[in-house]
Amino acid sequence: MSLFRLDASILPATSASRALADLVEEQWTAAHPDAGVVRRDLAADPISATTWQNTVTGGFTPQGDRTPAQNEAIALRTALADELVNAEALLFAVPLYNYGVSQHFKTWFDVAHTDPRIDPQGTALRGKPATLVTVLGGNYSPGSPKDGWDHSTPWLRRVLEDVWGLDLRVVQRPFTLVGVNPALDAFSDVAAELKAEAETGARRSGRELAEARGGRPAA
Ligand SMILES: Cc1cc2nc3c(=O)[nH]c(=O)nc-3n(C[C@H](O)[C@H](O)[C@H](O)COP(=O)(O)O)c2cc1C
Repeated sequence: MSLFRLDASILPATSASRALADLVEEQWTAAHPDAGVVRRDLAADPISATTWQNTVTGGFTPQGDRTPAQNEAIALRTALADELVNAEALLFAVPLYNYGVSQHFKTWFDVAHTDPRIDPQGTALRGKPATLVTVLGGNYSPGSPKDGWDHSTPWLRRVLEDVWGLDLRVVQRPFTLVGVNPALDAFSDVAAELKAEAETGARRSGRELAEARGGRPAA
């Protein structure tokens, strides 16, 4: 039994979502040094859209009639679902891309979601403690010019919290492109505050995941 951690940043060397997820993980590991962390890196090991198609069509096909590609896709689906079902706590680190959800994450979700333990009839994930760390280059907060343009965070919440039934914490860090894109230099102070808030939230959620397991939280 362990923490399952998924990363979806396509730029891992400079990833803000990874840095925040590291803070969550640190708290888990400090409280449960022997529990282990199972990792899935969707940038290093992406799941193809064809896999999803083969998982769905394979599910409609009697076992003996499935193509090799359908069997392979269903085996991967089972492995993805095993990672979720076997973990005691879940950690997802998912950036905003092109105003929507990471396509790496979406495909991973779609494939895992076909497992009968997980889809809406399944109950294996209900109540499982989880943290979603999400980062946005810009800022889409209420009243901002692009309020409502973040179509990733609401979808992620919907599927993880309402569809899978996870006991979800959300840590969001907007304005990660401040300091990278000079056009955003005027927002340096607010971006620094938002970063500090997100880091505090990440540590807190890591402690909560550790406590949900019944362990000793880190100081
Ligand atoms: C291809 C691409 C598309 C992006 N699209 C958006 C976007 O639509 N809105 C936004 O606010 N930031 C966007 N960003 C910025 C990322 O959300 C931001 O850099 C974030 O920190 C990336 O996550 P990471 O630091 O974990 O890699 C985009 C970045 C990339 C590389």
